Amino acid sequence: MAVALCPGSFDPPTNGHIDVIERTARLFDRVVVAVIANPSKEPLFSLGERTAMLAQSLTGVANCEVASFDGLLVDFARRHGVDAVVKGLRAVSDFEYELQMAQMNATLAPGVETLFVTATPAWAFLSSSLVKEVARHGGGIDGFVPSVVADALTRKLTPR
Ligand code: PNS
Repeated sequence: MAVALCPGSFDPPTNGHIDVIERTARLFDRVVVAVIANPSKEPLFSLGERTAMLAQSLTGVANCEVASFDGLLVDFARRHGVDAVVKGLRAVSDFEYELQMAQMNATLAPGVETLFVTATPAWAFLSSSLVKEVARHGGGIDGFVPSVVADALTRKLTPR
């Protein structure tokens, strides 16, 4: 049984995240999506909101489950019997930081591999930060995020 781990902040999940997770699920027997509890930047959405949005966006992916973690990714990976951490790459700029993290993780936990999936071109320009910026300024985000995320962003950012 080959197990993949797709970690991230997912603040909020975008169509790019969902695409990488769905494609990973076709290659592995099981995929664990791991939401970091305390990302380095103060998140817009709580941990509960981020995990719930992911779970609702991935209901069609039978071999995928959503969990959360704090602390080192490799500790979570070992506890869950993970074979490979799978990350999406949108551009060379992503690669530099991702390579550094992959090599640190490989040094901390030899045997936990990191694999990279290239972003589908239609989503290669997407990031959670850009989606939030567009939403904050009233721009349409329906084509960029699952509908549950679009609704949550509208609720969060619309003044009462
Ligand atoms: O979506 P993001 O913000 O790019 O995800 C980054 C994440 C959560 C995968 C990364 O920050 C992480 O693995 N954090 C856990 C702490 C850790 O293990 N640090 C050492 C890895 S080099």
